[in-house]
Amino acid sequence: MFAVTAARIDAEDPLAGLEVGEHAEPAPPDGWTTVTVKAAALNHHDVWTLRGVGISADRLPIVLGCDAAGLDADGNEVVVHAVISENPAGDETMDPARSLLSERYDGTFAERVAVPRRNLVPKPAGLSFAEAACLPTAYLTAYRMLFTRAGIAPGATVLVQGAGGGVATALILLGRAAGYRVWVTSRSEEKRNRALTLGADQAFPSGARLPERVDAVMETVGEATWAHSMRALKPGGRIVISGATSGSVPPADLSRLFFLQLSVVGSTMGTRDELARLVQFCQQTGVRPLIDRTLPLAQAADGLAAMISGELFGKVTLEV
Ligand SMILES: NC(=O)c1ccc[n+]([C@@H]2O[C@H](COP(=O)([O-])OP(=O)(O)OC[C@H]3O[C@@H](n4cnc5c(N)ncnc54)[C@H](OP(=O)(O)O)[C@@H]3O)[C@@H](O)[C@H]2O)c1
Repeated sequence: MFAVTAARIDAEDPLAGLEVGEHAEPAPPDGWTTVTVKAAALNHHDVWTLRGVGISADRLPIVLGCDAAGLDADGNEVVVHAVISENPAGDETMDPARSLLSERYDGTFAERVAVPRRNLVPKPAGLSFAEAACLPTAYLTAYRMLFTRAGIAPGATVLVQGAGGGVATALILLGRAAGYRVWVTSRSEEKRNRALTLGADQAFPSGARLPERVDAVMETVGEATWAHSMRALKPGGRIVISGATSGSVPPADLSRLFFLQLSVVGSTMGTRDELARLVQFCQQTGVRPLIDRTLPLAQAADGLAAMISGELFGKVTLEV
């Protein structure tokens, strides 16, 4: 079958290790099934894989891609949950042996992908395949950050750092639909304006002084915005962090942390049940994932290049 694979690791030039062409058909083990992929979505995770972060060379070649929507073996429209756990009874994001599609098992940038049967969630007709393909990683991560990990209630003020990213745009859309007051930062004036169009209440240049302190900060940028996130919080406020695109070792500012009784909470992906609730949330509220561009599968490299350069606003999806 046709697939986009990580064939080699190159930390400096990640796209050098990308290959597009024939790959072996999936061979689903017991309890797994094959999904015919109709749409996939790119994530920064695919770039990390090509750079060798979270994967070792002995796993290569591996099909890239965490996210997909498509048809199950009976022709039903499905969304694929990307978290693979051998012990899925509890919260599978807490399973230390969990992996994401494309880490241990082939991913979704292919005509077909093998997944555990329980990882299939019905896709509502009101969501296109491309929209549905955006949900399992970026939107699920945003959902869990806002509704499971942040400990805030509707009406609270939430600051989203780095307005253009896939998770950041998801945080704006989901947070707004849930009744939060959503403030955003971005280095780019154009992205700040687009964030306002998307429903953010106010947009500030990265690092700018805010009119008042916020209840919670949603972090995916990391080192570049961390000091600002710490300064932005009210006493007792909380940073929820799920990514560190710009680096992961900022100064911790421990005095501020204890004196203002702040919390820092990590968040990763979400459970299958949270994905099912996210799908329902989109149905109920009319929220639809923001897609920056859709490319044919064979042009995955162009989408990854746009992601690396940071020129995106929303998700890149692939048509299969
Ligand atoms: N833990 C999980 O389960 C999980 C799930 C999904 C994603 N992630 C992680 O979350 C992060 C975000 O991923 P993403 O795909 O949404 O977006 P992304 O492409 O990594 O970009 C996020 C935003 O970061 C800002 N940014 C990047 N470099 C910066 C710098 N040097 N200084 C200031 N701002 C900078 C940019 O905002 P502006 O240009 O607007 O300033 C950009 O829009 C990634 O690291 C990803 O691996 C984690």
